[in-house]
Amino acid sequence: MRFAESSETILARLGALRDADAPTHGGHVLSYVYDPGVAELDALAAEAVRMMQPVNGLDPTTFGSVAVLERELIGFTRELLNGDDDVVGTVTSGGTESCLLAVKTARDAWLAAHGAEPGTARPRLVAPVTVHAAFQKAAHYFGLELDLAPVLPSGVVQAAELIARLGDDVALVVVSAPSYPHAGLDPVVEVAAAAETQGIPVHVDACIGGLALPFWPDLPDWDFRVPGVTSISADLHKYGYAPKGASVLLQRGRDRQRLQYFATARWPGYPVVNSTLLGSKSGGPLAAAWAIVHALGREGFAELAAQTREATLALLETIDGIEGLRVVGEPTGPLFSVASDDAVPAERRVDPHVWADAAKGEGWILQTQPGLVQADGSHLPHTTHLTVTPVTASVLDELQPALVRAADAVRGTPRPDISALLGALPPLQGLPDSETAAALLGGFGIGGSGALPDEFAPLIAAIEALPAPLAERLLVELLARLVEPR
Ligand SMILES: Cc1ncc(COP(=O)(O)O)c(C=O)c1O
Repeated sequence: MRFAESSETILARLGALRDADAPTHGGHVLSYVYDPGVAELDALAAEAVRMMQPVNGLDPTTFGSVAVLERELIGFTRELLNGDDDVVGTVTSGGTESCLLAVKTARDAWLAAHGAEPGTARPRLVAPVTVHAAFQKAAHYFGLELDLAPVLPSGVVQAAELIARLGDDVALVVVSAPSYPHAGLDPVVEVAAAAETQGIPVHVDACIGGLALPFWPDLPDWDFRVPGVTSISADLHKYGYAPKGASVLLQRGRDRQRLQYFATARWPGYPVVNSTLLGSKSGGPLAAAWAIVHALGREGFAELAAQTREATLALLETIDGIEGLRVVGEPTGPLFSVASDDAVPAERRVDPHVWADAAKGEGWILQTQPGLVQADGSHLPHTTHLTVTPVTASVLDELQPALVRAADAVRGTPRPDISALLGALPPLQGLPDSETAAALLGGFGIGGSGALPDEFAPLIAAIEALPAPLAERLLVELLARLVEPR
């Protein structure tokens, strides 16, 4: 067959595009990627993906390998998270899908218990405001009322805040182990005990901590050892070091878990039975995750976690030594966030976002997080997030001084003042259409035509300052324009 373009040309272009990406290996990006720093694992995962590439993970009765790999991954994670025989599970495409399915299961259980049809009642989903945004998405998709409890300045919720919200209309309580924004470990034992007495299920979102916290010393129980915990999400594509597309959702109780499934025998095609949201799906990430779990075993995971923990402690010490910055709360696990230290005079403070932009100039990509006014009026400051991975240990000698230098370079420099830009906003009636939204983005100097800003501090300041629906509409426009054909 004659190809429109040669393989060499196509792969050369792909290579050039990839070269322009943020580096996925080597520890320079402190979010999104989880590099164990072990080249053999990458090679093993790539080979496993190649072998499973043609398989359709939709149907484990036709492709029996899919069932075996999934069963073994569920077995491994169930043991790691101290689940007994009553705990069953599913491999999903990622953290968000695991969270969505945990909520869908709980909603359907609540509707069944209350004799209600979807759409006729809106049960509540109770969680701290720090719970991952995937649960906001789940509530939106599945028609639940979000009831988000405020957290302490440390980023951790008080058990009483969640317990006070429990009631007959609550379909699910979600706590995190730990939360993404500040790495707070929520009070799982206390919340689960109270929820259990009222028959309310509790999901522990351990998407990020699930394969790391089992190896963290001196933690209170947060997994299936806690009787009232009914489900846990744990991502294989985070601290399971698998390529993207693999997470585990474990649920306690077969009958409950069956509500996660969708099945229909009411169409003239093949009988559809899906444990997850997708239909046809790649078997690649499943196979890669399975291969990595077999290669590392429990001991390998423990070793990588210990390495990651040491790097995390070293970085926490670095931040403690930087005048003008402070670590938020008491982070649990291999991640933390950094805020400006208001205890020092303004001219000695370091703005975490200006700092992140300065660190980016040195080749280190840190993640900026907006501040938030909570429902009780209290304010969570804007922060910069760092996710630490095993490979971080090997670059500490460069990273630590770079973080200090970046802070020294911007100490006393305030956050960009965007009040003039906000003042110049035209009066809007409702949400802008896509042309207006693109023009507004251009006005903020962040390229309505698809160009991304070099510095994120002004963008995040704008997101924080604008009314949330407008900020959300502008974010949609920014991302949508990125993929419009040019
Ligand atoms: C605690 C937590 N939950 C859920 C998610 C969503 O996971 P994903 O990005 O794989 O969809 C994340 C991602 O960082 C997370 O940290």
